[in-house]
Amino acid sequence: MTDPGDRPSTHDASEDPRNRDIRIYVNGEIVHRDDAKVSVYDSGFMLGDGIWEGMRLHHGRWAFFDDHMDRFFEGCRAIELDPGMDRHDLLEALTRTAEANGMTTDVHCRLMLTRGVKSKPFQHPKLSRTGPTLVIILEHSRPAEALQAAGIRLATVPQVRGLPTSQDPKLNSHSKLNCIIACLQAEQAGADEALMLDPHGFVNTTNACNFFIVRRGAVWTSTGDYCMNGVTRAKVIDLCRDAGIPVLERNYALVETYGADEAFLTGSFGGLTPVAEIDGRAIGSGDRPIMTRLQSLYADLVQRETTA
Ligand SMILES: Cc1ncc(COP(=O)(O)O)c(C=O)c1O
Repeated sequence: MTDPGDRPSTHDASEDPRNRDIRIYVNGEIVHRDDAKVSVYDSGFMLGDGIWEGMRLHHGRWAFFDDHMDRFFEGCRAIELDPGMDRHDLLEALTRTAEANGMTTDVHCRLMLTRGVKSKPFQHPKLSRTGPTLVIILEHSRPAEALQAAGIRLATVPQVRGLPTSQDPKLNSHSKLNCIIACLQAEQAGADEALMLDPHGFVNTTNACNFFIVRRGAVWTSTGDYCMNGVTRAKVIDLCRDAGIPVLERNYALVETYGADEAFLTGSFGGLTPVAEIDGRAIGSGDRPIMTRLQSLYADLVQRETTA
């Protein structure tokens, strides 16, 4: 097997030595990354019992902050995890962390809230008695340029998206094993990321990003069932509508996907990332006029959102 460390991924960032000395928020304290620790009894470590958000800071402003907070608080409510803070308190914690690091732009955040430290190493939520654990990691981060030209290679994998009746894929939960298993399967198939199907066999999403194709001038994406309700996904759909680009949220199969003119992924980290091939088949001719237009519309939107 080739070394997975050599392969590109949609979360590749240019190396930034400043990240070796970042300061991390842990329950109100802001400490050097080497000292940022949580208990081995923490519900997140022990059971993946927590909710997180990934966000970008540009020009001192969090892009689409309210959308991220809506999803975060909805996830917390769904699993009865009381953050003990509202979005203003979280913004204050984020601002303190950014200031402690002298960060204003090209910053990626992973905000994580778990059910806190347990009294015993067992599953029941009532064993988590200390209140939640909140961790904020901010890193200097610019998506790697090389991926834009080369595009990502996907492989469809046996691991499918779950039904909402098992672990709803809309929960941005700390337990990402479904996605991680898919990612491992894609790497074993020689690809960079997994293209995951829904339980009915329709094309759904990748293990880390939302997935779109372009066919005859129209943009297609899944119905939104079984995938993460991505903030970037929603923005791209809105941008299509505003720009008069036909956009369809529908079921579609691999046949239509292999025959697409363009394919791309969306996520807060990388914005829009082109897909070069799926299961060894090149997608389209390599020209990506619609994705390129949407990339530029998305960049303008982020600029407006973070400078208004
Ligand atoms: C499985 C999955 N799909 C898609 C996304 C992209 O979501 P967003 O656009 O909100 O970053 C994420 C990001 O957390 C994810 O984990």
